[in-house]
Amino acid sequence: MRLDKFLGDCGLGTRKQLKECIKNGMVLVDGVVATKPDISIDPAQNEILFSGENLTENYSKFKYYILNKPQGVVSATKDNHDETVLDLIDTGYDKNLSPVGRLDKDTEGLLLITNDGKLAHRLLSPKKHVEKEYEVHTKKFVSESDIKRLEEGIDIGDEIPTLPAKAYISEQNGEQVLHLIIHEGRFHQVKRMLEAIGNEVVFLKRVRMGALLLDPSLLPGEYRELTKEELYLLK
Ligand code: URA
Repeated sequence: MRLDKFLGDCGLGTRKQLKECIKNGMVLVDGVVATKPDISIDPAQNEILFSGENLTENYSKFKYYILNKPQGVVSATKDNHDETVLDLIDTGYDKNLSPVGRLDKDTEGLLLITNDGKLAHRLLSPKKHVEKEYEVHTKKFVSESDIKRLEEGIDIGDEIPTLPAKAYISEQNGEQVLHLIIHEGRFHQVKRMLEAIGNEVVFLKRVRMGALLLDPSLLPGEYRELTKEELYLLK
């Protein structure tokens, strides 16, 4: 990418201001003063210093964020009406970030956001059967026979029933919570599974995707980069 674009993406000023900075010798590329704003650089390969500050030492081509998606935002990169999950993230110079899969606008919880298309593809591939775990608050009581039906696979109006899921009940603050672990990603799948047993989702939260757990210290709307260990486990 162009040097001035990289510097701009780092939030260091407007193109005009940065042109001036480059002219004044404030930018070094691999130890050499850059003289032109349009030279081509690769932040993963070149060392770029701005006023002595190293902009590339922690640069990695791929970024991985875990977001606790709040209700009311859409899992998209752009939207004309609603705030998107990417609006919540200070992406710096990462322009190709996308959410890995979708949570409904009213669903909360774990969403991975990355520009690593290969990993995203692998996590979403139906062949890989990556587990997704949800906490489901329901309108009506969930019985043992409901659990059995969810676990066996259920007709939700598609050509074929859902694959067998894992389900169990716990109690949170005196309220029944259904834990549902599925390894498909059909449209509105959890809501439709609950409808199919004559119930209704009143609140839905994703707490796990594969080996990646929702960090309980992240409030809805908060995010952080994945740790090396989380990334290793996810891959
Ligand atoms: N299933 C749903 O119905 N909604 C979600 O957001 C995720 C899974």
